[in-house]
Amino acid sequence: MKSSAPGKIILFGEHAVVYNRPALAVPVDQVQVDVEVSDSDKLGVWIDAPMVDLHGELSTLPSNHPIGTVILKLFQHLGISLHPNISVTIRSTIPVAAGLGSGAAVSVALIRALTSFLDHPLSNERVNDLVFEIEKLHHGTPSGIDNTVITYNMPVYYMKDKPIETFKPGKPFTIVIGDTGIPAPTKESVGDVRRLWLRDQNRFESIFNEVAQISTMARHLIETGRPELLGELMDHNHEFLQQITVSSPELDVLVVAARKAGALGAKLSGGGRGGNMIALVNPASAESVAGALRSAGAKRTIITTIQ
Ligand code: PMV
Repeated sequence: MKSSAPGKIILFGEHAVVYNRPALAVPVDQVQVDVEVSDSDKLGVWIDAPMVDLHGELSTLPSNHPIGTVILKLFQHLGISLHPNISVTIRSTIPVAAGLGSGAAVSVALIRALTSFLDHPLSNERVNDLVFEIEKLHHGTPSGIDNTVITYNMPVYYMKDKPIETFKPGKPFTIVIGDTGIPAPTKESVGDVRRLWLRDQNRFESIFNEVAQISTMARHLIETGRPELLGELMDHNHEFLQQITVSSPELDVLVVAARKAGALGAKLSGGGRGGNMIALVNPASAESVAGALRSAGAKRTIITTIQ
C-alpha cells in the first residue's frame, strides 16, 4: 500500500496566524514524501527511512522519535495493541527543518498508507486532527496550518479554530523558492515573537492586523485572477516580518537578489531566521531569478506553479 504527501509553503501571514489572523498556504508538489507499507516475514514493525538514517524496529526507537510517535499514536487511535508484522518504507525529497512541511508530510503519508493497509481508512478531517496532535508534541504551539494544507493538498486560507477554507486561483502563478540552507528554528522564532508580543502588545497587535489585511487582500487577488499584483503585498509582508525580528541577513540577501533579478515581489516564508524565501515571478523570468538566488547563496531553488 502506497501513499504520498506534498511539501508546502506559506504565501502570507506566518506568525500572525499564531495570533488568530488568517494566513495563506499552498502545496508544493515538486517535493514529496512517499510511504509504502507491506507484509513482512519478520516480527514487528520494521521501518526504513533513509533520509533520517533510520533502519529499525518500532519498539527499539526512542520514545520521542518523530516517526515512531506517528505510528504509535495511530495504533492507539485505532485501538491496535498487537502490532502487525509489516515493513514501512519512507522516502522524502522534502528538506528537513526548511519550512517546507517535511514533518507534517511524513505524518500524513504514513497515516494514510498505514490506514489503507490496515483497512481502516480515515477521513481528511481525522487525518488532519491526528497530525495536528503530533505536530503539537514536537513544535509546542503550532497554528495547524502545515498539517491542514498538506492533508487537503489544496491552497488554504487558514485561521486557527475556524472551519477550513480551501480556495482556487483564478489564474496560475509562478513562485521561486530559495533555501538559505540554514535550519529554520521555528519553535525558537515563535517563542521570541511571543516574548516580544508580551512586552508590547499594542505594537504587535497592530502589525498582525496589517498582515491580516494583506492575507485577505492576497486571497481576493488570487481568486479573481490578478496574481501579478501579489508582489507588492509580499514586499510589505516581508517588512512586517523584519519588524517582528524573524528575518535574517541571509533571508534578506535572497529577497533583495530576487527583486533585483526581476521578481515582482519577495518575502521569507515560514518560521524565518533560516529556511526558505519565496519570490513571485513572471514564468519567463523564473529560471533567471532562480539562478540569481543561487549566485546570492541559495543552497537550492524550486520553481513551482500554483494552480
Ligand atoms: O516554519 P514553518 O513553515 O513550519 O512555519 C511556521 C509558521 C508559523 O506561523 C511561524 C508558526 C505556525 O505554527 O503557524
